[in-house]
Amino acid sequence: MKKEFMNCPSCFEGQEMYGFDWKEHVVAIPAPLVVVTSYKENGKTNATMQSWLTFSNSDGFYCIFADVNKYGHMYSTIKEKKSLVINFPSADVYMKCHATIYNNEYEDDEIQMAGLTVEKASMVDAPRIKECFLNLECEYAWEKELTPDSYHIVMCVKVVNVVMDEEYYNEQMKGRYGETGYLYNIHSPRNPESGKEENTCVGIIKKYATYDELSNK
Ligand SMILES: Cc1cc2nc3c(=O)[nH]c(=O)nc-3n(C[C@H](O)[C@H](O)[C@H](O)COP(=O)(O)O)c2cc1C
Repeated sequence: MKKEFMNCPSCFEGQEMYGFDWKEHVVAIPAPLVVVTSYKENGKTNATMQSWLTFSNSDGFYCIFADVNKYGHMYSTIKEKKSLVINFPSADVYMKCHATIYNNEYEDDEIQMAGLTVEKASMVDAPRIKECFLNLECEYAWEKELTPDSYHIVMCVKVVNVVMDEEYYNEQMKGRYGETGYLYNIHSPRNPESGKEENTCVGIIKKYATYDELSNK
């Protein structure tokens, strides 16, 4: 039976939401896990985990970051350099990518300190993470405040170069999906009737059926 939730369920009262809206925890829609890399003013690398993002395809290939902290280093470095790389980790390197959030000082070379390797981008002034199977080199396009006076903004960037390991675009080799491919953020799902919280998890995508197979099921 479908249930409607217009107001914050009372069982969520007193639960730590870490600044997220309660609806986020009810729906817990998975989103891609990426690391955004850029250069700081001092030439050191900046690395920021991001997961609230999607892509637009009609008039060029653009990434829309839905929720960028205006007071973080990702925002300030991209505004300064107008350049960034979106790096896609597979599960074997994910924990190193995640560790970038613990080395976040101005003097930190964040990619190197996480035990990852810097590669120079071909088309933009930003570092790539060598161990990530896909790197999207991007240029800043525009931004908009999510709501007036919000400290998070929606940012659009244009993808100008796609750098992908051949083992991943060949579906007969590792491929893009399954245990070796794209990772998704399954962010703290909660039951709006009991208040029960599940741990945040790293998810993978499994192919289920082609359209033909699905219509014959
Ligand atoms: C899985 C994961 C996803 C995240 N997604 C976002 C996001 O979409 N937007 C955001 O502003 N911060 C996000 N963060 C938090 C930033 O990665 C974190 O605050 C980081 O330290 C900011 O670094 P910076 O100051 O170098 O930009 C995420 C963190 C994790 C672990």
